[in-house]
Amino acid sequence: MNHPATVYPIDPEFAAKARITRESYERQYAESVKDPDGFWGKVADRLDWFRKPTKIKDVSYALEDFHIRWYEDGELNASVNCLDRHLATRGDKTALIFEQDDPSKPAQHITYRELHARVCKLANALRSLGVRKGDRITIYLPMIPEAVVAMLACARVGAIHSVVFGGFAPNSISDRVADCQSKLIITADEGLRGGKKVPLKANVDAALKMPGTNTVETVLVVRHTGSAVDMQMPRDRWYDAVVDEQPTECAPERMNAEDPLFILYTSGSTGKPKGVLHTTGGYLVYASYTHEMVFDLRDDDIYWCTADVGWVTGHSYIVYGPLANGATALVFEGVPNYPNVSRFWEVIDKHKVTIFYTAPTAIRALMRDGDEPVKKTSRASLRLLGSVGEPINPEAWRWYYDVVGDARCPIVDTWWQTETGGILITPLAGAIDLKPGSATKPFFGVQPALVDANGNVLEGEAEGNLVLRDSWPGQMRTVYGDDQRFIDTYFRTYPGNYFTGDGCRRDADGYYWITGRVDDVINVSGHRIGTAEVESALVSHPKVAEAAVVGFPHDIKGQGIYAYVTLIAGEAPTDALLKELVAHVRQEIGPIATPDHLQWAPGLPKTRSGKIMRRILRKIAENAPDQLGDTSTLADPSVVDSLVKERRVP
Ligand code: PRX
Repeated sequence: MNHPATVYPIDPEFAAKARITRESYERQYAESVKDPDGFWGKVADRLDWFRKPTKIKDVSYALEDFHIRWYEDGELNASVNCLDRHLATRGDKTALIFEQDDPSKPAQHITYRELHARVCKLANALRSLGVRKGDRITIYLPMIPEAVVAMLACARVGAIHSVVFGGFAPNSISDRVADCQSKLIITADEGLRGGKKVPLKANVDAALKMPGTNTVETVLVVRHTGSAVDMQMPRDRWYDAVVDEQPTECAPERMNAEDPLFILYTSGSTGKPKGVLHTTGGYLVYASYTHEMVFDLRDDDIYWCTADVGWVTGHSYIVYGPLANGATALVFEGVPNYPNVSRFWEVIDKHKVTIFYTAPTAIRALMRDGDEPVKKTSRASLRLLGSVGEPINPEAWRWYYDVVGDARCPIVDTWWQTETGGILITPLAGAIDLKPGSATKPFFGVQPALVDANGNVLEGEAEGNLVLRDSWPGQMRTVYGDDQRFIDTYFRTYPGNYFTGDGCRRDADGYYWITGRVDDVINVSGHRIGTAEVESALVSHPKVAEAAVVGFPHDIKGQGIYAYVTLIAGEAPTDALLKELVAHVRQEIGPIATPDHLQWAPGLPKTRSGKIMRRILRKIAENAPDQLGDTSTLADPSVVDSLVKERRVP
């Protein structure tokens, strides 16, 4: 663990050809902060606009006059920027490489021209089904090209897509459908992951039986595995039957820069997941610009981001960023350990991947299997590696660097959030020396600051809560349908600043080190889960009286889920019931929310006013009973002793 605090200096060879160098970073950063209008006005020229914006930034974080607007008089269409404008120069270039779950199945190469045609056909089909600008469409698909096609087809007709990760359970689908009142759902018969089938259509059927979902008029079903599924006519329609006969041209909707592009639900510290709303112009400028600069993109790169399109990383860095940049992006249906733990590296060799972007949890899991499964592959095509989703521990960073990248590929550890739309703190490989475990420095226009609990700004070397002092074009605009919740969640804690919910340290060189969430959000394998969501799933079980959920450090997942459960009077805690409760959470939310440990709690530590002291529960879960702190304010301090004694983790 205790390696010397190393710095990995910029590779001069990389820097010689890099988009941004040390000198240009300093200069452009200063410019971007001093004159955001001038800077972001120029950057916007990278897109094709129906009408070029003349107004660039109009932002106020002041609670009494709150607004965030970028490029507000500009007009464009995101799908035109991702497709049409490439046809003249790159029509025959591969836009997507589709690598299937089963490696013996042939990979597909889809050119920009083909992708354009497929998007137009679906867009026409959507219009024929009555979809209009501003309608919401839920996409619940596996990692197959249709997922990309569906997103871009929505963008083409001005419908707002809400992609729901294929690992979510019917309840989670129905909550999201009901919240945004979707008119149409695009799904598949089944998904395939690591050889296992995922019953997507059946999950949609179950979700649509739940209250609040009767806005859905149509379910389009992609034939993927070919298994038989229930089709409920006239609601359910086969995708191919509706799409095949459509024309391959489709007039794009003219969208204002501030018209919504998509909603993506993410977990917060309270209540149900919130619909993060991103708009068209600022988001696309920011996603494409960061994608080009952070990954130092070149026209002949084969770029692979292993995220799922169900998360923001997939939105910005599989779909919108790469395609707006005319890049070749790999879409991978499978998982890192199927059919064996060399799969990632085999795919890299098979498709000559040059840029590889993945999550620390995958790196840590694969690291456990040793170097041999990596070393037996070549990986000579790689030139840049990326990490996202959670803090990467220096050990995993070094393994990624030395073993996966053969000590010749820089790593960009990119910090950002669903809310930020794109990368905010990151190395630029030609400009910034690397330190394992640090996301390093802010991207252009991004102004991080650290504040203490009272909102005092901390200068120099410090540790505190991470805020952003000003806006950037990719910032979320609101919580769908709840402007007040947006303001309250992000702008009320530290007035005048956007509060990230993350803790962070800044070292003597001005490098940022994200330390993790400081709110009641747990980051499990790079997936955000609200403790409140897991608690409400637990208490929805008839035998549970009360539950409290906290995160704890986990070797592979970063954080694991630890649940304390109080049963209703008269119920006996048995192993069978424990299993039942774990299964119940999976069924309510989805497998990603599976509690790692569940401890019976005859009582929970509460203040005299009845508030659960999570701080204490966290320390017990972490096995740090010596750090419980002051327990004298508890209504019944003795519950703590019994919880410590009964701790579950070995
Ligand atoms: O805690 C931070 C962590 O992931 C959170 C955002 O999660 P989500 O909205 O799901 O987006 C994940 C993909 C962008 C952040 O608040 N996080 C993300 N990237 C990093 C990170 N923590 C440390 N280092 C990172 N590179």
